[in-house]
Amino acid sequence: MKKRTQAIILAAGQSTRMITDLPKVLHEVCGRPMLAYVLDACRQAGIARMLVVVGYQKEKVLEAFPDEKGVQWVVQSRQSGTADAVKTCRKHLKDWRGNTMVLCGDAPLVRAETIKTLIATHEKESSAATLATAVLDDPTGYGRIIRDAYGNLEGIVEEVECTPQQREIREINPSYYCFDNQALFAALSKVKPSPKKKEYYLTDVLGVMVKQSRRLAAVTAVPPEDVLGINSRRQLAAVSEVMKFRILDRFMASGVTIVDPDNTWIDARAQIGQDTVIRPFTFIHGRVRIGKGCQIGPFAYLREGTVLADDVVLGVFTEVKNSQMGSGTRVRHLSYIGDSQLGRQVNIGAGAITANFDGEQVRQTIVGDNAFVGQGSVLVAPLKVKAKSQILPGAIVEAKGNCNGQKETKRK
Ligand code: UD1
Ligand code: CA
Repeated sequence: MKKRTQAIILAAGQSTRMITDLPKVLHEVCGRPMLAYVLDACRQAGIARMLVVVGYQKEKVLEAFPDEKGVQWVVQSRQSGTADAVKTCRKHLKDWRGNTMVLCGDAPLVRAETIKTLIATHEKESSAATLATAVLDDPTGYGRIIRDAYGNLEGIVEEVECTPQQREIREINPSYYCFDNQALFAALSKVKPSPKKKEYYLTDVLGVMVKQSRRLAAVTAVPPEDVLGINSRRQLAAVSEVMKFRILDRFMASGVTIVDPDNTWIDARAQIGQDTVIRPFTFIHGRVRIGKGCQIGPFAYLREGTVLADDVVLGVFTEVKNSQMGSGTRVRHLSYIGDSQLGRQVNIGAGAITANFDGEQVRQTIVGDNAFVGQGSVLVAPLKVKAKSQILPGAIVEAKGNCNGQKETKRK
């Protein structure tokens, strides 16, 4: 029977190289904190329990992840290295006889498939540790994979500890490991502080295991795109770029047209129906749901809570937040629709907006089916516009009949 796998995700570090007051794992990649992608990948790979090691500004991290299923937060009070971070999980895992996957919260490009391959290889080889390796054109910053003359793994050396020859090695450690849990904690207790940085390196566990004649395995040739980690703002941008195209690819594969992928940003959690066309400079953030055959953009901004039925048209410079629209509704030009429910076949004229916020409270606007909202009008929430109403251009429509001299009239 297959052993079950738990995961440890390291996220306690301060990240001096980012020059930031925010915990690194909260920096956003395509609209979400980078840690979220690592949790997702674990879940998709079938891992039900994740121990996330937090430390630097842990309150902020916990606040950003208020209820994460299957996650246990473990606190590392002093950040003295990745081996020490794993050790803080000992009390929760000491009796565990199975696999322990170790990943880093600053490596959001890890794929569920890579995790699954690591686990499968680990079980097939019955190894004490199985790691992923990748060959990068520029290995700067990563731990280098050391092999003997026969190609057998000998260990990992951190860049700062490398000899000039070791620095030339381009096979690197992405920090994706699957360990036999008991072997991991046995080896961890033997790790000594590193010569230069005086930190406890998790990478030294592999050298310890080689000395103990434990079996190591590697999943090699993981594509460079799947292993990039984030230690600097430049790497944050590089990883975001890879993630962005991964997300867009998934939508295109499911029948969504993206006219200009270079200039389109879509949240991984969005859902978009077949034959919808997304035009350039569209930004979709959050769990937005878009039906089939819609036309979105150019320059549209869709935010959390937006749900569009089929054949909706959102045109140029239109922002939609927390609003639902029925099929065939059109908001073609220069509108803000916030906290609203628009029925079917509603037409919102150019420049018409909902005034959903009075400085204190956010309020709702409801517009019935087939209503025609005139150009440049303002719908002051809370407001209900009846089905088939026609609002004249430039009207300021308020619930208390104070309509700037204009009336809602039934459409002929
Ligand atoms: C680490 C690896 C390196 C690998 C690289 C891949 C070690 C020693 N080095 O280096 O071989 O190539 O990742 O991206 O493991 N952390 C803690 N507690 C600590 C220290 C770090 O939780 O005391 C966390 C960090 O928040 C981070 C992760 O561990 O999420 C990795 O630490 P980081 O300092 O970024 O290691 P790298 O230098 O990138
Ligand atoms: Ca890192």
